[in-house]
Amino acid sequence: MDDGLNGTGDIGHRIQSLRESLHYHNYRYHVADDPEISDAAYDRMFKELLELEAAHPEFASPDSPTARVGALPSTALQSVRRSVPMLSINNAFSDDDIFEFDKRLRRHLQTDGPIRYTVELKLDGIAVELVYHDGLLTQGTTRGDGLVGEVITSNLKTIGSIPLRLRSQDDQPPPRLLEVRGEVIMTKAGLTRLNSERLKRQEPLFANTRNAAAGSLRQLDPSITAARPLEMFAYGIGNFTDIDRYTGHDDILRMLGSLGFKINPHTRARVGIEEVIAIYGNMEKSRETLPYEIDGLVIKVDDLALQRRLGATSRSPRWVIAYKFPAVQETTTIDAIEIQVGRTGALTPVAILAPVRIGGVQVSRATLHNEDEIRRKDIRVGDTVLVQRAGDVIPEVVKVITARRTGREIPFVMTAVCPVCGTPVVRIEGEAVTRCVNAACPAQVKERINHFASKGAFDIDGLGEKLIDQIVDKGLVSSPADLFLLDKERLAGLERMGEKSADNIVAAIEKSKRISFDAFLFALGIRFVGEHIARLLADAFNDMERLAAADIETLNNIEGVGPVVSDSVRRFFENHQNRRLIACLINSGVTIQYSRSAVVSDNAAVSGKIFVFTGALENLGRDEAKALVESLGGRVTGSVSKKTDYVVAGTDPGSKLEKAESLGIAILDEAGFKRLISGQSSEPS
Ligand code: IVH
Repeated sequence: MDDGLNGTGDIGHRIQSLRESLHYHNYRYHVADDPEISDAAYDRMFKELLELEAAHPEFASPDSPTARVGALPSTALQSVRRSVPMLSINNAFSDDDIFEFDKRLRRHLQTDGPIRYTVELKLDGIAVELVYHDGLLTQGTTRGDGLVGEVITSNLKTIGSIPLRLRSQDDQPPPRLLEVRGEVIMTKAGLTRLNSERLKRQEPLFANTRNAAAGSLRQLDPSITAARPLEMFAYGIGNFTDIDRYTGHDDILRMLGSLGFKINPHTRARVGIEEVIAIYGNMEKSRETLPYEIDGLVIKVDDLALQRRLGATSRSPRWVIAYKFPAVQETTTIDAIEIQVGRTGALTPVAILAPVRIGGVQVSRATLHNEDEIRRKDIRVGDTVLVQRAGDVIPEVVKVITARRTGREIPFVMTAVCPVCGTPVVRIEGEAVTRCVNAACPAQVKERINHFASKGAFDIDGLGEKLIDQIVDKGLVSSPADLFLLDKERLAGLERMGEKSADNIVAAIEKSKRISFDAFLFALGIRFVGEHIARLLADAFNDMERLAAADIETLNNIEGVGPVVSDSVRRFFENHQNRRLIACLINSGVTIQYSRSAVVSDNAAVSGKIFVFTGALENLGRDEAKALVESLGGRVTGSVSKKTDYVVAGTDPGSKLEKAESLGIAILDEAGFKRLISGQSSEPS
């Protein structure tokens, strides 16, 4: 692509050359996702073009890259009637519906042979139509009611993946008329970014990517649209003067791709109906991983001649069907707001909903997170709300449908006392959570025991929520250590508890007593210590006492452990109740299984000490030496600091030795190191 001046001072040529370059690089960036020049280089060319056009208005052109921005705001959107209506699509919700669709078409066409379909994603955005006359974008509209749309040309021109002029194909002239249809979408990441900016400016948030795309397109001022992260995927055509050259829908898509449109890469061309079902299953599983929202698949008869034979009803073409995914958002009403007390005493407001099916699952509760979130969304009891369920996460209230307010809705007030134990609640300034600070609160006790007995922790089979409710309410258990005092007699007295089940539970509790160190740590329910961190701590210390005695710095030095975790671990072990719990567990017969049998944690010379190796050892490899130190409860680090206890210097030691000398750190040779680890040497002076 030539963007150099040809030396004649010909302004018109320079403008033309800049425009071509900018169109090309715009395509590389927005459609091909493969830019060839830097943003800065693009910006420089863009600026030069802007200046030349300003100085020479006689060269103005509606397809100049500068025409993407700078159109003036209008006072109202104009409506326009289109000649080929944008119809809707019939929906299918089950495999049976799809087989039925296929059968219906074959009946209609009086054929027994298989029909080939092109399968596309059903993008959850806004349908638009772009009109190109002789390759030039002249009009862009929303779908509207299908027949009459709204003119949003200036707004659409700001979208980088929409060509202002069609790219030429093998130097052929552009089609006289081409109407391109497609979906304008916002990515999930784009919505998150936009909403976080809006939150800062205290503007209302968009509930989903479709609303955000719609709101962004229907702006009177194109500069607002220009600032929104929008993209367009093309999926079809309206009027087209060269249609006779094409035989299949997939050919049309490829033609659109070569004219400069973005075509969705998940499109599958000319597959049989069985394969359609398989594609649906796969996409439903992977939809969460896509960067944009989809709400199903669109299945189109590929053969254009068959499409024409099938025709359309007044509502929709017969050759296409949408196979919808189960909805993830539904509207329902809030009957009440309850407060749930968690393991750490955090109070979480929960909306009790009029039950509604969302994506095949009955939903009757949704988390409201915290007081601030309720205020931000202005959620009241009695409100009609939009509820969302995504994957395995707890259902959430997306927003209130304020148009459905009657005036009888009741605003939420955070409770002043714990709803379970009546202790006054505390909300620390700067934190979003309100807490019950009574560690003996039955709700907290139940949650702690539930966590203690869960998979990944003590994993006690059969100890479910209902049973925990009973044993806590009956006063049999008030701490996890009490679980090990339960016997068959006490359990058999509980509701719905036969002798056999009581036996099973006692056996499960007994079996759980042998537990790995990481599972034990996870079970303790230390704040911020999930299964992963528990494993890191277990690996680093491999000894309960050493972990309990570790200072913040030692904890911080563990790869993957940050200051928040270190602080929480430290505080946990400083609390004497927690230490007593651990002692009680051990006294009840819990035995922690450490990962290496060769742990000799009583080698005082090595345990808890930090070693640095430098130079080569004669009889020991580095890894071997490291394993030795660790098996004795010491640690090996890579660099010398004031915290280093020993530097072991082999032959050809590096600068670490000098540093150790200057810091006055004990230096050992290989023989000295061996004496130390075999317990024959005392600690350095
Ligand atoms: S084709 C007559 N293809 O779905 C066929 N539509 O309910 C015209 N949509 O308004 C549409 N992805 O907004 C088609 N790959 C796709 C689509 C798609 C999303 C939307 C479009 C349309 C709605 C129909």
